[in-house]
Amino acid sequence: MLILGLETSCDETAASVVVDGRRVLSSVVASQNDLHARYGGVVPELASRAHLEALVPVVEHAVADAGVTLADLDAIAVGHRPGLIGSLLVGVSAAKALAWGLGKPLIGVDHVHSHLYAGNLIAREAPLSPEPRFPALGLVVSGGHTSIYILRSWNDLQRLGATIDDAVGEAYDKAAMILGLPHPGGPNLDALAATGGGNDRALELPISRIAPGSLDFSFSGLKTALLYAVRGVPFTRGSPGRLPPPPPESLTDSRRADLAACFQRAACAAVMLKLTRAFDQLAQRGDQPLSLLTGGGVTANSRLRAQLAERAASWGVPLFLPAMQYCVDNAAMIAGLGGELLRAGRVADLNLQPVPTTAC
Ligand code: KG4
Ligand code: ZN
Repeated sequence: MLILGLETSCDETAASVVVDGRRVLSSVVASQNDLHARYGGVVPELASRAHLEALVPVVEHAVADAGVTLADLDAIAVGHRPGLIGSLLVGVSAAKALAWGLGKPLIGVDHVHSHLYAGNLIAREAPLSPEPRFPALGLVVSGGHTSIYILRSWNDLQRLGATIDDAVGEAYDKAAMILGLPHPGGPNLDALAATGGGNDRALELPISRIAPGSLDFSFSGLKTALLYAVRGVPFTRGSPGRLPPPPPESLTDSRRADLAACFQRAACAAVMLKLTRAFDQLAQRGDQPLSLLTGGGVTANSRLRAQLAERAASWGVPLFLPAMQYCVDNAAMIAGLGGELLRAGRVADLNLQPVPTTAC
């Protein structure tokens, strides 16, 4: 079974060919990082225009790299939700055109759910490895989402908790901006926290608990605490109630490294706290997870990767942690989950619509 996956939900134009659901024959990702860097974030209109320019060459590249032709494909899968509507439209339109032109099935894939599949992908030449057993506990930590799931199969999942404000990747990107680090913020903050020699106990930053037993996340308080640590606390008695505006250059390098390390410690602790709560709650109700599935850009984070490995080992469950190139947005995860949906008969038709929100 040969599936072509397309991904255009945000600022990466990607295409991939995956065989037998797991084996990645090609994965091409055209990043728009340089295009958006000067604005400090993704500009939706620019993103959709860039997808339009990049998509056809990216698809041609992916098909050629895989050593197949379009006629060999069994289906076309596309990330059709959630994302920027203009960006999604480009991928969905292209996928419909390909499916219609080639007479192949079309599959609509939820981008957030597909992040959970990324750890199940294997490289072209790699030996077969065991697949996850269900029920599985799922964690997506990305720039747009921070959610915990229970999965009973690849196409039966229920969200147990999600962020009520910022996603953890978004908090990383904003924290990096506060610290004066260049775009893309998350990886740069991680690098400084991991290798900058900072003291991760220099400052106690808040780790939100929300409420006893809650599996929801909140990262806006952490972000604001970092902002105040850099700029000072506004609204104190006698102050005009505005943030003092010293530029980030006023931070010394050692203070910046300390704050990066403290932010990284708190952000990872917040993720691990809710993940552990979820595992304990499921185990208590007799729904013991048999695997841990993780994905999303923040699974590229050095500290989080180490903590996930350590926690899964302590629970005695196999960890499905994506290889670095499949943590951030890619089309192999779309093709992979698309294959599972095809097997389950979940095929779309030409009425498939792009949708800005996730299905659940
Ligand atoms: O999954 P992804 O490519 O896009 C979404 O679906 O949102 O995730 C991108 C996010 C960005 O916020 C980026 O800063 C973050 O993942 N990210 C990281 C790291 N690498 C990427 N955050 C922390 N540490 C990293 N090493
Ligand atoms: Zn994503």
